[in-house]
Amino acid sequence: MKIKKGIPLIDQHDKHYMYGGKFGGNFIPETLKKPIDELTLLFAKLRKSQNFLKARDYYFKNYVGSPTPFIKLENLTNQLGGAQIYAKVVSEANGGAHKIYNATVHCLIAKEAGKKLIVGDTGAGYAGKMLSMAAKKFGLKCKIFMGVKDIKRQRPNVESIKKNGAVIVPVTTGSQTLVDAVSECMRYWVSNCDTTHMCVGSTVGPNIFVKICAWSTAQISRELIKQVKEEFGRIPKKLKLLNCVGGGSSAMGFWNEFMDTNAELVGIEAGGPKNSKLHAAPLSNGSKIGILHGAAQYVVQNYEGQISSTSSISAGLDYPGISPLHCFLKDTKRAKYTSATDEEALNAYKLVSKLENISPSLEPSHAFAEAIRIAPRLNSSNIIIVNSCGDSLKDKDIIKSRLGQYVR
Ligand SMILES: Cc1ncc(COP(=O)(O)O)c(C=O)c1O
Repeated sequence: MKIKKGIPLIDQHDKHYMYGGKFGGNFIPETLKKPIDELTLLFAKLRKSQNFLKARDYYFKNYVGSPTPFIKLENLTNQLGGAQIYAKVVSEANGGAHKIYNATVHCLIAKEAGKKLIVGDTGAGYAGKMLSMAAKKFGLKCKIFMGVKDIKRQRPNVESIKKNGAVIVPVTTGSQTLVDAVSECMRYWVSNCDTTHMCVGSTVGPNIFVKICAWSTAQISRELIKQVKEEFGRIPKKLKLLNCVGGGSSAMGFWNEFMDTNAELVGIEAGGPKNSKLHAAPLSNGSKIGILHGAAQYVVQNYEGQISSTSSISAGLDYPGISPLHCFLKDTKRAKYTSATDEEALNAYKLVSKLENISPSLEPSHAFAEAIRIAPRLNSSNIIIVNSCGDSLKDKDIIKSRLGQYVR
């Protein structure tokens, strides 16, 4: 299994849409075959359309707020005394997280497809918030599927979704988190695909959704590679790109343009509560391959192949599966994956917010935890860039209850 240079990662699948012959594919009910085929054809056409690319770039700049800042975290660097630490502050994008790139592109596609209603899943609430924002902007009706547990723990984003005029469909099945929200959203789409467009909130699901999401968020690394070259005059020899990984969209967007460079790509999964066996880290815990949401991937599962419960303080990382693209990057050793516990993420949030003028949500705080772990062991010729892909405001209740106060 090998990654080919010069070919977009999303296109490195075989005729069955599998990466490395093992990951991804379209494991879908018969009723979804037609809409998936139609969407696949439409997206293939739009990717090549100058008008569509123009519209995408226009809205990335004038609606999303691209490019987001790239800054040096001098205080954190000095405190840790080792590698130089930078952040790509994607949380400065409109709405406060990277999910706006995918949501914007999906709304543009829905318009092209002549669909009036767009539906989507959400865990942390950012995918839902962004889809509801973009739907409002482009005049589409919107329904967001969200687990009841996540509705309770991500209140600020729930309020935004409602304010944007979208309907929230509370999901009461299973663990009442992201995994069930994606399942329910797909179930809804199966019965309503003639009139409805579906946006999957991460690089998961049947192949076309993996592709659209990774293609949309790739803008983040197009911005970053320019900013890195401006800052260092070239791509530094010892460069590490750290990104949290839930379904994997933020990391794919952050890494895409660096795929053919020497940059080390490090994904940080949710290690769950300290001293607990629960986690949401299929790649760094040796999970086996299974089928989830229409695609083959490493999945947290029991010995019978049933999806196991996961646990993470961050709703956005609390997902038992992982993008087939990340499975492919892991098996080809192009990226490596580790995890951080809830407590490490909270401590990282605390330190970064105290020392710097950014306030990462609990998802990117997992990536900061890894930066804090490794920076002191490296010298200053090493450059670490962390994708600060979400703002902490949505986590204020959790942070307050765990740390006693919320500082932003
Ligand atoms: C801020 C933030 N970061 C990361 C994630 C994890 O998702 P992904 O791995 O698809 O970026 C989420 C998911 O909701 C999120 O809201």
